[in-house]
Amino acid sequence: MKSPRHFLGMKGVSLPFLIDVLDTAQDYYDAARREHIKLTHLRGKTIINVFFESSTRTRTSFEIAGKRLSADVINISTASSSVTKGETLLDTVKTLEAMNPDAVIIRHSASGAPHYVAERLDTAVINAGDGAHEHPTQALLDAYTMRKHCGRLHGLVIAICGDVLHSRVARSNAILHAALGNEVRFVGPRTLLPPAEVFGARAFDSLEAGLAGADVVMVLRIQRERLEGERRIASLREYSRHFGISERSLRAANPNAIVMHPGPMNRGVEISSDVADGPRSLVLEQVEAGVAVRMALLKHMLATEAAA
Ligand code: NCD
Repeated sequence: MKSPRHFLGMKGVSLPFLIDVLDTAQDYYDAARREHIKLTHLRGKTIINVFFESSTRTRTSFEIAGKRLSADVINISTASSSVTKGETLLDTVKTLEAMNPDAVIIRHSASGAPHYVAERLDTAVINAGDGAHEHPTQALLDAYTMRKHCGRLHGLVIAICGDVLHSRVARSNAILHAALGNEVRFVGPRTLLPPAEVFGARAFDSLEAGLAGADVVMVLRIQRERLEGERRIASLREYSRHFGISERSLRAANPNAIVMHPGPMNRGVEISSDVADGPRSLVLEQVEAGVAVRMALLKHMLATEAAA
């Protein structure tokens, strides 16, 4: 399967390529649980992580993934870069490209920023989250986790709950699962849901109806920083009362339903601590899968055939 030059979003991505990546990720996941041997597929390659927005999981995950494959990984965050001196996005990435990296992994608050950069660089570009647009590697690691725990990636009912409107995680997941033929639901107050039909999803403004028969309950963070001044919910307490995921609300879902959350979680707002720390929660497994999935993606995109 030919690998794409850039990895910018789930829109238009080849499903056989994604399945190849998930299969490779499985080998890496199993191997990492047995031992931490450094692989050499990306020896001599340089990856630059350029994060214009804060991140704990995604940045660290890409860094560890690159290093486990023997790549050199350099991290740049806006706070310590020349962006604070007024340099434009394009000048910053062109400067980085002049140092001949093999890939630039970019997170930016503007939707479309990685696409804009990819059109102007020869280096491979990977989207690590752009505004409220897409976060394709999160959808990949979520798919890995679903396949592992549900045993399949078809015939699933996936309820994506909470602040779907501001969520790039929701968009990438919805596009992927609509393409896979799964039933995608957006569940939350109408003011926090984008037009569901555009994503091949169905909208529910009742938690009970939205969770009925769900195999996967994907909980999203209320994005307070993007909600500020928008007055879309009366209060966090009210939101939590009607839409917070608790053991009680989960009774509507399939008895074997799994609970996922991309993090960071707002405990007591969109998810109760007993669910977050409970037996159905796969939150930390998602993080673990993230490293294996990003290793697999980097290997498929960057490794040269001759490498070990
Ligand atoms: C998310 C993100 O940054 O898009 N987190 C992540 O990457 N795991 C979700 C969020 O910010 O709520």
